Parts: sequence; C-alpha cells; structure tokens
Amino acid sequence: MAVDMPTDNADRSTGHTHPLAGKFIVFDGVDGCGKSTQLTEFENDLNAYGVKFKRFREPGGTLIGEDIRNILLTKRGEGMHIRAEMLLYMASRAQLVYQEIRPALASGITVLADRYTSSTLAYQGAGGGIAEDEIMAVAAAATGNLWPDLTIILDLPIADARRRTTKKGDIHQAGLFEDRIEQRAAQFHQRVREGFIQQCSQFPDRYRLVSAVGSQQTVHKRILTAIEKFFAVPEAR
Ligand code: TYD
Repeated sequence: MAVDMPTDNADRSTGHTHPLAGKFIVFDGVDGCGKSTQLTEFENDLNAYGVKFKRFREPGGTLIGEDIRNILLTKRGEGMHIRAEMLLYMASRAQLVYQEIRPALASGITVLADRYTSSTLAYQGAGGGIAEDEIMAVAAAATGNLWPDLTIILDLPIADARRRTTKKGDIHQAGLFEDRIEQRAAQFHQRVREGFIQQCSQFPDRYRLVSAVGSQQTVHKRILTAIEKFFAVPEAR
C-alpha cells in the first residue's frame, strides 16, 4: 500500500554548492549488515569533499534518547508491549530530530543517521506486526514530517548477518548485554529484512537498496556510487 510521505525538505537552506551539503542521509538494515562501519567510510568521503556533517545513532543520540535506549535494549525492557516499544523508539527520534537534526539541517549541515523511521517500519512493522500506516502516522507526529532525502538499505542474508554480529562481540560497548531484539528468532529477522527490501520498492524516489555482501571496500564503493548517482555528484574533481 502506498503511503504519502509529505516533506518539508524544500524549506531548507540551499546556499551550499556541493550536492551533498545540507542533505539528510540514513543508513539502515538488519543487525550485522555493517552500516556503522560503512557510515565511518562515508564520513571519510564527506571530509574529502569538504562537506560539513553530523552523525547520529538511533535509538539515542541525545541524553534523553540514550536513557530511552537503555530501557529498550536491556533487561529493563523485558515484557514491553510492541506498541510501547514502537512509541519509545519514536520518542527517542522526536528528541533527536528537534534537538539535533533539524537545527543541523537548518544551518546547512549534512546529517548522517544510523537508523531512522525505516527501522521502525522494518522491526516493529514488518517484524512486529504493527500496521505500516499506524507507524507512518506516529512518525509524522514525532518528526514533524521530516523524512530523509535518501535512505540507504544495506542488504544481507540473515545467516551472514548473524555470523557478523556473533563474531563482532563488541557490539554492546556501552556495557549492555545482548539486547532483547537480537535474541529474537531468525524468522523475525527474515521478516525485518523483507520489510527493508519492501520499503525500497515502495519508495524508489528516496531509498536505495545496496548489497552488503563482499568486503568492506567493495560495499563502500557500492554505497558511494549509489549516493553520488542519487545526488548527481559530478565525477571526481
Ligand atoms: P544497536 O545495538 O544499535 O544495533 P545496530 O548496531 O545493529 O544498530 O541496537 C539497535 C537495535 O534497535 C537494533 O536491533 C534495531 C532496533 N531498532 C528497532 O527495533 N526499531 C527502531 O525504530 C530502531 C531505531 C532500532
């Protein structure tokens, strides 16, 4: 079902010359898809371009958001209803959008986000069974209709993703134990993966699906090509 995605992106300052300046770009995908590593790779590209940016992660990115993260991703969240979970992710997002993302975009700074509403649609929607139109309505209220210019979905078979997360071991640097979400069954993760893929075909004007299979460098090249094409960045200067 198509969902209207009204946007206020047109209001943003456009006094910058680089096509990536002042853009809102999200990296998302299943746990273990490598998006955090790939965001760091892309940060190097933005630095090389001389584009000013800020990077945020979800849930979290603000003091209030990090508190919410601790409820969501530790034992404290056990027994939480899926709707309460969805609303907490959105509450963290609302704080991040109004405290950090909107002010950054308003001053022409590019924003990189590690997860956004696309995660809620995939995890609490496709995975958890909440209707897409309900999530979209809450997202519109939480963010004041702020949608990314581009969402990159890093796609990886669930078996590969699981292997990466178990090998990583240090995924919970903040002293958190294996979180509730990651303990869920492979079936759930399969639905999440399909939810991400489905968003890409539903919103082709603001999403790109990129395969996360291959070496870090190969995937980085794929992502950079997709982003440069999307924003019509001129060939290397
Ligand atoms: P995190 O440890 O940050 O994982 P990752 O490094 O893969 O991003 O945990 C974030 C978890 O929260 C992840 O399992 C996905 C989940 N999540 C949702 O279920 N809904 C959401 O809206 C968001 C933002 C995250």
